[in-house]
Amino acid sequence: MKIAYVGCGYVFDIYMRTAWAYPEITVCGVFDIDTARSAVVSGHYGFHVYPDLDALLSDPDVAIVVNLTSIRSHYEVTKRALEAGKHVYSEKPITTDLGQTRELFALAAARGLVLTGAPCNLFCDAIATMWKAVDDGAIGKPVLVYAELDDNPAHLMNLESVQSPTGAPFPYAEELQEGCTVEHVGYHLVWLCAMFGPVRSMTAFSSTLVAHKTDTPLDPADTPDLSVGCLEFAGGVSARVTCSWVAPRDHSIRIVGETGEIRVDNVFHDQAAVHLERFSRVSLSARKAYTLRTQPLLGRIFGIGGRRIRLIRRWKSHAVEAERGVGRSVKHRIVSWLRRREVYAQDKLLGIGEMARAIVESRPQPLPPDFLLHLNELTLAIQRAGPRGATMTPTTGFANVPPLPDVVGNRHKPLIDVRPGLAVRWFSGVVEALHQR
Ligand SMILES: NC(=O)c1ccc[n+]([C@@H]2O[C@H](COP(=O)([O-])OP(=O)(O)OC[C@H]3O[C@@H](n4cnc5c(N)ncnc54)[C@H](O)[C@@H]3O)[C@@H](O)[C@H]2O)c1
Repeated sequence: MKIAYVGCGYVFDIYMRTAWAYPEITVCGVFDIDTARSAVVSGHYGFHVYPDLDALLSDPDVAIVVNLTSIRSHYEVTKRALEAGKHVYSEKPITTDLGQTRELFALAAARGLVLTGAPCNLFCDAIATMWKAVDDGAIGKPVLVYAELDDNPAHLMNLESVQSPTGAPFPYAEELQEGCTVEHVGYHLVWLCAMFGPVRSMTAFSSTLVAHKTDTPLDPADTPDLSVGCLEFAGGVSARVTCSWVAPRDHSIRIVGETGEIRVDNVFHDQAAVHLERFSRVSLSARKAYTLRTQPLLGRIFGIGGRRIRLIRRWKSHAVEAERGVGRSVKHRIVSWLRRREVYAQDKLLGIGEMARAIVESRPQPLPPDFLLHLNELTLAIQRAGPRGATMTPTTGFANVPPLPDVVGNRHKPLIDVRPGLAVRWFSGVVEALHQR
């Protein structure tokens, strides 16, 4: 499948890290209105640079346009690509105006083209494992989700100095202007909606807590840096999703079922640790004890947090395991290894890979238009809920997003029948006794 990139900024280098694992995708070339950026990218990666967007769009070899432009350019670039007869993969959000997003999906449908996009973490190993475990009944009937996307206090992180490996500055002003919700909530909404269906009703709150985050003038200057969405899903599950640029980093997921809990450590890591706890009276009671709660090694003996489960491997799991970044220096290799091990690892090309695979096999797209439109509506509603809060019933919905066939068919066993450990069994009598007169 032949693709071309529009926009070669900060995130472009992240897409490139796993490009080696996609021999089926050929890059015809790139275009950026910032010609200095496209020249740098061309120098580093050897890509052809189109002189303008028209030249890229009139290249008959290009089947998919990948829109990695700044959010304010998403609508225009995607529209022009669809009008030129190209399929489009867009970075999130598709647009920040639900009417425009609807218009783009209608345009794609009218032309028989695919419009889909990020985030693609729904397809990663950690989320696939969590989804399969829940579907297999590992925690009983799922009832409650807490999903966190606190991304550190932005005003203390010196974001102005952050650069990609080829020197693209981190677009901190755009991130702060668009806000933590538009930038991040999709990473949770995508798996929440896929697993539990469309949202039936939502109560949300958003607020601006830290007024001064940078000396750079922002427009607008007061985009919320905190949002909380409480969502009720058609499948009966309730969820609370929090995004902030204020609280210390926490990207965790907890899905609580009637008989257990599944936890994913980091929604930004495709191979994050997944823990499954089958509730017992001992593990639930042990949490009351300060020492067991705060000393994980001790707590684990009593079943707190359960056990780490082996991840399902998918068709491109190897991509993040052996990222090949731009820098080959010792420093680059150490930083890249540390980041993958400890901080985050995302295969951004996985979404394009799944999109291209579905086109080639004439299958429906794994993320259908109705689904993406729903995500777009929820994202914008959470962001705009305001400090007095807002309750809404979405105007959009979707039928069903089945787990990918290779995930459903995976023979992976998520320890559903795991027996409680020796200590848990031994202490169950003690716990019973302690709860009686
Ligand atoms: N920064 C991140 O870590 C990150 C992570 C995931 C997703 N994203 C998403 O990726 C997209 C791009 O983010 P980024 O961080 O690379 O931003 P960026 O500002 O670093 O890069 C955007 C690039 O698009 C170019 N551009 C803007 N309008 C254009 C147009 N009309 N035609 C051609 N080029 C145009 C700009 O010149 C710039 O080089 C956004 O949608 C963002 O939400 C960013």
